[in-house]
Amino acid sequence: LNYHMTKFVLSAPDIRHLPPDTGVEIAFAGRSNAGKSSALNTLTGQKSLARTSKTPGRTQLINLFEVADNCRLVDLPGYGYAEVPEEVKRKWQKSLSEYLQKRDSLKGIVILMDIRHPLKELDQNMIKWAVDAELSVLVLLTKSDKLASGALKQQLSKVRDSLKSMNADIQVEVFSSTKKVGVELVKNKLNHWFNV
Ligand code: GTP
Ligand code: MG
Repeated sequence: LNYHMTKFVLSAPDIRHLPPDTGVEIAFAGRSNAGKSSALNTLTGQKSLARTSKTPGRTQLINLFEVADNCRLVDLPGYGYAEVPEEVKRKWQKSLSEYLQKRDSLKGIVILMDIRHPLKELDQNMIKWAVDAELSVLVLLTKSDKLASGALKQQLSKVRDSLKSMNADIQVEVFSSTKKVGVELVKNKLNHWFNV
C-alpha cells in the first residue's frame, strides 16, 4: 500500500455517522497527547492530514482516512486527561467506546504511549480489552526522540516485561514522528493486517 496516497474521508461525532461497516479499519488509540495524530501524519507523509496540538484533547471526533479501497486508518480521540470541559469529554468517550465495541471492520489497533509515561492504568485496560476482543495489537512508545539511547532501551524492556507479566503477547516498538523512527516497521505491520 502507498500510505502517501491516504485521503481524509470524514470526521464523525459517533458511529451512526460512519460509512458502511465493510472492509478493514485500523485505529490509533492512546491517552490524550500521546502522539496519535502526529503518527498518522508521519506514516502518510502529510503534515496536516490529522490535526495535532500541544493541548491534550485536540482530536474529539472519529476521523477516518482511506489508504485504498476498503483499507482505512482511524484517528481516535484520546483517553485520560484532556484540557476540555467534562461534558465534551463524556460525549467523545462514549463514542470512542461505542466505536471500539461495535465496529465490525475494526481489525487492528495501534496503541500509542509516550515513552516517558507508559502503561498507565487506562493503557493497561485498553491493551487487555483489545487482546480479549481478538484484535491485532501493536504498541508504540512514542516521542522516542525525547530520551537518550540508554534510557530508551531501558523503557522499552520495562514495557515488554510488564506486558509479558500481563500475559499479553504483544509487539512493542519505539516510534518518533519528529525523527521518523519506526515508520517502515509500522507500515509493514499495517500491510500485514490489511492483508496486502
Ligand atoms: P489528542 O488528539 O489530544 O488525543 O493527542 P494526540 O495523541 O493526537 O497527539 P498529537 O499528535 O496531537 O501530539 C501531541 C503533541 O506531541 C504535539 O505537540 C506534537 O507535536 C507532539 N509530538 C507528537 N509526536 C512527537 C514525537 O515523535 N516527538 C516529539 N518530540 N513530539 C511529538
Ligand atoms: Mg489527536
